[in-house]
Amino acid sequence: GVIWYQKVNRKREGNGKLARAEEILVELQRTCASPLERLRQLADAMVVEMHAGLALEGGSRLKMLLSYVDSLPTGDEEGLFYGLDLGGTNFRVLRVQLGGKEKRIVDREAKEISIPPHIMVGSSGELFGFIASELAKFVATEGDKFQVFDGRQRELGFTFSFPVRQSSIASGTLIKWTKGFSIEDAVGADVVAELTAAMDKQGLDMRVAALINDTVGTLAGGRYYDEDVTVAVILGTGTNAAYVERASNIPKWHGLLPKSGEMVINMEWGNFKSSHLPITEFDRALDEDSLNPGEQIYEKLISGMYLGDIVRRVLLKMAEEAELFGDTVPSKLRAPFILRSHDISSMHHDISPDLEVVAAKLKENIGVIDSSFETRKMVVQVCDIITRRAAQLAAAGIAGVLKKLGKDPSSKSNHKRVVAIDGALFEHNTVFRNCLERSLTQVLGEEVCPFTLKRANDGSGIGAALIAASHSQYNSLGEL
Ligand code: GLC
Repeated sequence: GVIWYQKVNRKREGNGKLARAEEILVELQRTCASPLERLRQLADAMVVEMHAGLALEGGSRLKMLLSYVDSLPTGDEEGLFYGLDLGGTNFRVLRVQLGGKEKRIVDREAKEISIPPHIMVGSSGELFGFIASELAKFVATEGDKFQVFDGRQRELGFTFSFPVRQSSIASGTLIKWTKGFSIEDAVGADVVAELTAAMDKQGLDMRVAALINDTVGTLAGGRYYDEDVTVAVILGTGTNAAYVERASNIPKWHGLLPKSGEMVINMEWGNFKSSHLPITEFDRALDEDSLNPGEQIYEKLISGMYLGDIVRRVLLKMAEEAELFGDTVPSKLRAPFILRSHDISSMHHDISPDLEVVAAKLKENIGVIDSSFETRKMVVQVCDIITRRAAQLAAAGIAGVLKKLGKDPSSKSNHKRVVAIDGALFEHNTVFRNCLERSLTQVLGEEVCPFTLKRANDGSGIGAALIAASHSQYNSLGEL
């Protein structure tokens, strides 16, 4: 009798716990909800902030930074150029031999190097010293198939994916770090000068011909293949967008008007904030614990660096209040960033009937030896809610940019617009990508011209080389 009683009781208690877990889930669903109406308000808020950021320096949380890129690649670019791409947990070096309109990219080689974590929070000298030494090693492996004119200095496009206040195409000071970097003595410094000094120390004779953001690189890389590309979006470790603006729409710019009449704007939309954003207790806690509290709020809801940690925080609450993983809370679940966006993505895309991938991930990442099917299903639901919210919010942002462009009386109306998108979240997470595409169509409705989203894999590396080419110190004959 006693045993029977204990069993029933445990079962009842179990159901109570399950009910509590469901409650948390329903509450999460409610606070993350982004109905169409809200997404449209967000898109409109984005447009308002874009105008404010273009009107005057400091006019908005959206910095709307001038890139000094006033013309995008045409296909005519020729020669050997290097690219260096810093902005995530890896940095990349590459070289491309550009062969002009007909041949395009004749040869390319690239190498990805992971940045030791201590370097991301160390000193400026260490960071640029490390980068320059890796670059020097890479340059040393340049084979005969790459050709530089005799005696010509090699040139580099530097993709530096953080907010930078530029003063020309090849100079600019770091405004602040984002995405888990925090190197105090680099803030306010000219990153091209820092890199150049570090290259000199390595005895590397190379000139930085262009300094660009990854969004600007993606835009350039996208345009190289498709002349309808006018917007670029990054959905990776961080999130951001760049687009081609009419110079006459940039009141804060007092410099000379470029011949093209255009200028690429790096929006730094990761710092967007609005009362319409669906922010939960988990997002607030994540922000407070971050290296940059109060900053990059939109980015913290969307990008790959944070999605896993939002999910972790929800699961922790479910473990504490509803014994989601049994009667003890797995200690690993308290470790920040233990779940990464690709873990979330593979659990979310688990199509096995028993949710085996989920079980394996829970074991491997947070040490849960044995999870029930109910638990696994709940984990998938949490991933689903957080991923869809991210995709919908990103869609609202893109809708905002397209609306801003569509309203411009001087732009060709009804002209097809192509948005080049790079970043692992868009590239590898199918639920995210499909949800983003669907939401964008819904948010825009009939309102603006037709658009296409286009994957731009490694657009930013090639883009940097292309922009370096068009800002080379040599003319097409190789003369200074
Ligand atoms: C962060 C950076 C931004 C970059 C984006 C994507 O938001 O501040 O410059 O473009 O991440 O990498």
